[in-house]
Amino acid sequence: MSINRYEKAWLGFSAVMVVAFLSIIGYFSFVAGFQTPQEAEVIDPTRIEEDGRFAEPRVEEVIPGELYNVYMVARMWSYSPKELSVPRGAYVKFYITSPDVQHGFHVVGTNVQANVIPGYVTVITAKFEKPGEYLIVCNEYCGRGHQFMQAKLLVTEG
Ligand code: CUA
Repeated sequence: MSINRYEKAWLGFSAVMVVAFLSIIGYFSFVAGFQTPQEAEVIDPTRIEEDGRFAEPRVEEVIPGELYNVYMVARMWSYSPKELSVPRGAYVKFYITSPDVQHGFHVVGTNVQANVIPGYVTVITAKFEKPGEYLIVCNEYCGRGHQFMQAKLLVTEG
């Protein structure tokens, strides 16, 4: 059986593409540290005020210098708290929910990025090694005030 040379070329090209795609997935999973969402928890979006974490959004120090929990509400068109502060090198576990529509949560300049979907609590753990001021933005279109939806993350020296 003979194979047409164009067919042969396409077979080769397909094999290269498969290897390329697998390498890209491998790179982002093992080298760049991308994570899939963790621990999806459901919540009634009309009653988030009844949950202590979201009635009073805040940064909670669990282990000084090592572990911090951030309880955050993303709504049209703001985050609360608007400003957070955590020390460098600590594990920061974000718990975020939305009472209205889908929002995004992206810490600019890092790989911390998640969707915030009404009815769920988004849990994402991060560690910030570089002190400074980071901008948090919403990157899911959520209505006419979308572009103003932002917060500030301060990573302190320790
Ligand atoms: Cu919230 Cu866009």
